[in-house]
Amino acid sequence: MKNIPYGKQYIDNKDIASVGKTLKNEKITTGKEVINFEKKLSFYLGSKYTLTCNNGTSALFLAFKSINLKKNDIVIMPSINFISSYNVAKILGAKVYLADIDFYTGQMTPKNVEDCCKKFNLKKIKAIVVMYMGGYPYNADKFVKFKKKYKSYIIEDACHAFGSHYYSNNNKYLIGSCKHSDIATFSFHPVKSITTGEGGAVTTNSKKIFNKLKLLRSLGIFREKKNHWSYDIVHNTLNFRLTDFQCSLGISQLKKINKFLTYRKKISDIYDKKLNKIPNLIITKQNENYCSSNHLYIIKLKINDKKIKTKFINYMLKNRVTLQYHYIPINKFKVFNDRFLDFNAKKYYNQAISLPIYYKLPQKKINYIIKKIEFFFKKKYY
Ligand SMILES: Cc1ncc(COP(=O)(O)O)c(C=O)c1O
Repeated sequence: MKNIPYGKQYIDNKDIASVGKTLKNEKITTGKEVINFEKKLSFYLGSKYTLTCNNGTSALFLAFKSINLKKNDIVIMPSINFISSYNVAKILGAKVYLADIDFYTGQMTPKNVEDCCKKFNLKKIKAIVVMYMGGYPYNADKFVKFKKKYKSYIIEDACHAFGSHYYSNNNKYLIGSCKHSDIATFSFHPVKSITTGEGGAVTTNSKKIFNKLKLLRSLGIFREKKNHWSYDIVHNTLNFRLTDFQCSLGISQLKKINKFLTYRKKISDIYDKKLNKIPNLIITKQNENYCSSNHLYIIKLKINDKKIKTKFINYMLKNRVTLQYHYIPINKFKVFNDRFLDFNAKKYYNQAISLPIYYKLPQKKINYIIKKIEFFFKKKYY
């Protein structure tokens, strides 16, 4: 048996055909497929505006630049997160405060934000970055109150949450609709809900932000006149464009989104049912108002001891199952030089592990993974 990865893409002949077709177009970048993909994303997500870009990290860069994040501005983000939002904020000279997280969900809560503000006496915050660990959009409607209180922008790093939705006041919203935020960012990396190889998108309902995003994506080039040789440069920025053939792949993948989400949910339900019976594990029961894309399936060991987590990962690896950490707390990295709170983050880091989950992960392999996990704890291999 080949090694089982924790995540991977699903590409079919229709995806290949649509990329091939676009490669024959006159324009293979800055063409009509980019606009098509953006329109379809806006329609699916329920946002007024969508801008594609070349990856999820660029999407965060564009989001921060579009709100004019600059030197010494304050940004709050969760201490457990992928490094992108921290790196981008630092490149722009911001002061970052890492809020602690809730151990059970692995996510920063509104209370964690308040605690962080109290602890570091923060009154005005330029941006609060929310991240939905594994795709679970918990509290997605609960950060919006900070916009007024701290004069803050709310940015959703929704890279895990493409296809996640939630209910607020009996209305259904998709993450990316920006009904309770200013901007949402996505990644279309191969392990994500849909892929364009590398790729990303930014969504917003603000015309002002969107117009700025368009300039920021493409070297700050501003064309007032029709003449293609006449233009001005209005921002110092880079080239973050996504090609037309990648957008064609995105359009073709988007057609399968419901299939992808249903399958991921099925795997998650099987894991829930079986793994809940293992007393050594903590399985997060999700609130039914917040529906995950199931980008990741995360379990937590009951014992707070990283040595056991390492043993477990090695044991699974020997059995050809690759598990993953999501994530090492940001304050542990050499590049980190800001303030942080990490009481629960430390515990989470010691205990949380991601299991394989992806479209078409066969039932046989799911059963195999579960058997191996059961065996590890039954035999007390730790
Ligand atoms: C939460 C989060 N933010 C940002 C990113 C960055 O996306 P990309 O790898 O497309 O740059 C990722 C990707 O793994 C992510 O998981």
